[in-house]
Amino acid sequence: MKKMTGVIALAIAAAFLASGLMVSTPDVSAAKLKSQVKIPAKYKGKHMPEGGWTNEKMIARGKLVYTGKVNKKVKCSKCHGTKGKPKAKGARDFRKASNVEKFSDTYWFFRIADGVPKTLMKGWLGKITEDDIWAVMAYENMFSHGGKPAVPDKSKWEAPQFK
Ligand code: HEC
Repeated sequence: MKKMTGVIALAIAAAFLASGLMVSTPDVSAAKLKSQVKIPAKYKGKHMPEGGWTNEKMIARGKLVYTGKVNKKVKCSKCHGTKGKPKAKGARDFRKASNVEKFSDTYWFFRIADGVPKTLMKGWLGKITEDDIWAVMAYENMFSHGGKPAVPDKSKWEAPQFK
């Protein structure tokens, strides 16, 4: 019995060590993540359509958008990689939850719609529709969820701030 307890204790210790190591891996991109900028008031109340995060049709459409099949001038994968591994300088690793889990649906939508000033990330609304932005978000969201459709954990979202 004593031996058994020892083995279990060791296993628990090993698990702690492993998780500790994972947490302490330096994540440069997360550290550099700029704090949220203010969102134009016109985006207030913009939310992922009901069930959108896991809607198969939307995700399939999102993949077409992401890979430039809807508009060849809007090819997210060129800079963000087909699986979320960044290619363009300054783009973050979308596979890391710590890089994306802070984005509320409203903030995420605004960033894709308006882009990030003075970066390669242009505003894409107009070149793709609003529905296509929601679709591409549902698709991108899988990168940080093991490649599977998932509803993001809203408790991690930064509350959107509006101009
Ligand atoms: C020409 C390259 C390029 C293309 C194409 C591109 N992006 Fe980006 N994207 C970037 C870069 C660079 C950044 C980082 C900008 C910064 O410094 O915050 C970025 C940032 C982002 C962010 C995070 C915004 C933030 O506030 O941190 C999201 C989300 C995003 N892109 C989604 C998309 C989607 C969806 C598409 C396709 C519709 C797309 N991008 C197309 C280069 C690109």
